[in-house]
Amino acid sequence: MPADNDAAWPWKDSPVCLITGSARGLGRGVAAALARRGATVLLSARDPAKAAAAAALPSGEGAGELRSLPDGLDVTDAASINAAATAIQRSYGRVDVLINNAAA
Ligand SMILES: NC(=O)c1ccc[n+]([C@@H]2O[C@H](COP(=O)([O-])OP(=O)(O)OC[C@H]3O[C@@H](n4cnc5c(N)ncnc54)[C@H](OP(=O)(O)O)[C@@H]3O)[C@@H](O)[C@H]2O)c1
Repeated sequence: MPADNDAAWPWKDSPVCLITGSARGLGRGVAAALARRGATVLLSARDPAKAAAAAALPSGEGAGELRSLPDGLDVTDAASINAAATAIQRSYGRVDVLINNAAA
C-alpha cells in the first residue's frame, strides 16, 4: 500500500471532506490520513462533544486539519442532516468528499 503522499490527489487546494461517524474507529483513522495529505476534514458524530474531542487529537504532520461540526449529525435523522448541510454551506461553501462511514 502506498504512503499517504504517493496517492493520486486531484485537488490543487485543500479539499473539504466530511466523514460521518468519525469520532472513532475507521472514520477517525481515515480523517487523520486525509489531513496528513492536506485535506480539511470535518469530523462528525451524534454527540458533537465526541467529534470535537476527536478533532483535537493530533493527526500527524501535514498541511490539512481536522475540524468538527458544531452540532451532532445523526445519519438516520433528516433534520440533523439538513442542519449539518446548512452549517457546512455557511462555513465552507462546499463538500468535495463525503465518506458515509457511520454505522451502528
Ligand atoms: N471495522 C471493520 O472491520 C469493518 C469492516 C467492514 C465494514 N466496516 C464499516 O466501516 C464503518 C466504520 O467501522 P468501525 O469499525 O470504525 O465502526 P465503529 O468504531 O463502531 O464506529 C462507527 C461510528 O459510527 C457512528 N454512528 C453509528 N450510528 C450513527 C448514526 N446514526 N449517525 C451518525 N453516526 C453514527 C458511531 O458513533 P457513536 O459514537 O455515536 O456510536 C461511531 O463513531 C462502518 O460503516 C462499518 O460498518 C467496518
